[in-house]
Amino acid sequence: MNNPSPNGREHPLHGTAAIVTGGAKGIGAAIVRRLAGAGASVGIVDLDPAAAEALADEVTGAFAVVADVADYTSLGQAVDAACRRMNGLDVLVNNAGWDHVRRFVDTDPRLWDTLIGINLRGVLNATHLAIPRLIERGGGRIVNVASDAGRVGSSGEAVYAACKGGTIAFTKSIARETARHHITVNCVCPGPTDTPLLKEIKQDERAASTMDAIVRATPNHRLARPEEVAEAVAFFSTVPEHITGQTLSVSGGLTMAG
Ligand SMILES: NC(=O)c1ccc[n+]([C@@H]2O[C@H](COP(=O)([O-])OP(=O)(O)OC[C@H]3O[C@@H](n4cnc5c(N)ncnc54)[C@H](O)[C@@H]3O)[C@@H](O)[C@H]2O)c1
Repeated sequence: MNNPSPNGREHPLHGTAAIVTGGAKGIGAAIVRRLAGAGASVGIVDLDPAAAEALADEVTGAFAVVADVADYTSLGQAVDAACRRMNGLDVLVNNAGWDHVRRFVDTDPRLWDTLIGINLRGVLNATHLAIPRLIERGGGRIVNVASDAGRVGSSGEAVYAACKGGTIAFTKSIARETARHHITVNCVCPGPTDTPLLKEIKQDERAASTMDAIVRATPNHRLARPEEVAEAVAFFSTVPEHITGQTLSVSGGLTMAG
């Protein structure tokens, strides 16, 4: 992104090229709508072809590319295809994620591998694929959707929280490595947000009562809306380059980590 000037008439995202992983549903879909609404071309990289195509049909400027972020080769082909179509890349949003709530002692290494593959390795894969393209462009923005679980921990989500904490540390390290290339790397940490993933988690009775308790403990007593998280992502997608390596919670004040 060469000139994200807030003073121009056009929105700074206008005419930019963005990829949103896990962009077909939930928070990712809100991010796709927000970035495309500001005039960006947006590649929706998602595992779910039907949902990705349906969103692409609805949102002007968005298109679907199917890939599993955990698979470097498949993701590489998707990123290639998206960048060819958009003639480059300015913004990468690492949003794809998944969770399965269960006490750590009741989990097994297969579940750990799945969680790590999507929530941590997926971020490494996409970032590794995107950086050379952002450098080619003379700069860019990477926004990682982590979780407050990665800042303050969360019972029943130990491996997920480890991945999200890893994503926060990775964000800071890549911010240091890429600053000289005019790339910013920042992190948005949603609290509980009203999405299909949260509904899936709440199918488990114990997880549902924990989530209800978390909502009661949230100062405004409600879940985040995906659009509120998307607003924070849009902010980091156009920030001045001195704002990098930072972590912003979107949790209604539930967490106010220093
Ligand atoms: N919903 C919450 O309460 C909450 C809280 C904190 C953080 N988050 C994080 O926000 C992000 C979005 O979560 P959400 O709640 O919108 O989830 P969601 O399940 O509602 O949507 C996730 C999207 O990612 C896609 N996806 C899943 N695995 C993928 C993979 N391997 N490759 C490509 N696409 C894949 C899904 O098909 C889906 O379209 C995740 O990183 C999640 O960890 C969510």
